[in-house]
Amino acid sequence: MDVLVINGPNLNTLGTREPEIYGATTLADIEAGLVTQGQSAGLSVATFQSNHEGEIIDRLHAAREDGTRFIIINPGAFTHTSVAIRDAFAAVAIPFAEVHISNVHAREEFRKHSYLSDLAVGVLTGFGPDGYTMAMSYVIERFSKE
Ligand code: DQA
Repeated sequence: MDVLVINGPNLNTLGTREPEIYGATTLADIEAGLVTQGQSAGLSVATFQSNHEGEIIDRLHAAREDGTRFIIINPGAFTHTSVAIRDAFAAVAIPFAEVHISNVHAREEFRKHSYLSDLAVGVLTGFGPDGYTMAMSYVIERFSKE
């Protein structure tokens, strides 16, 4: 698998969840768009969503075994809480982009800190679902240079 897209807790409810913040696009729409975008550039794309911290960690460990070359992750609220997911990224050493639909810096104070950002290649926050598309565009460009 070339690219793994991970979405964390509550992102399975996109489309109905606080639409004034997160919009009307569903996670299924986002995932389908990313698979098409990646495939049109010759990349294989896997998607994964979980509401459980340990399952995300297990999926990261599996990514090292299945040859995943890049990860696009919206860690949801685990962004602000999870030393364990940070440690998993450090352990597997797969480059990743951190995506947030909303601008976390324009919201509550506790959303301004991420346990992942300093390990990420880059962070996209506040561009709505386009943040995922931008991250995939980056991956396509990056791989074209390898
Ligand atoms: C989010 C921002 C997080 O603070 C929040 O907990 C989420 C979604 C976003 O995509 O804007 O669940 O990651």
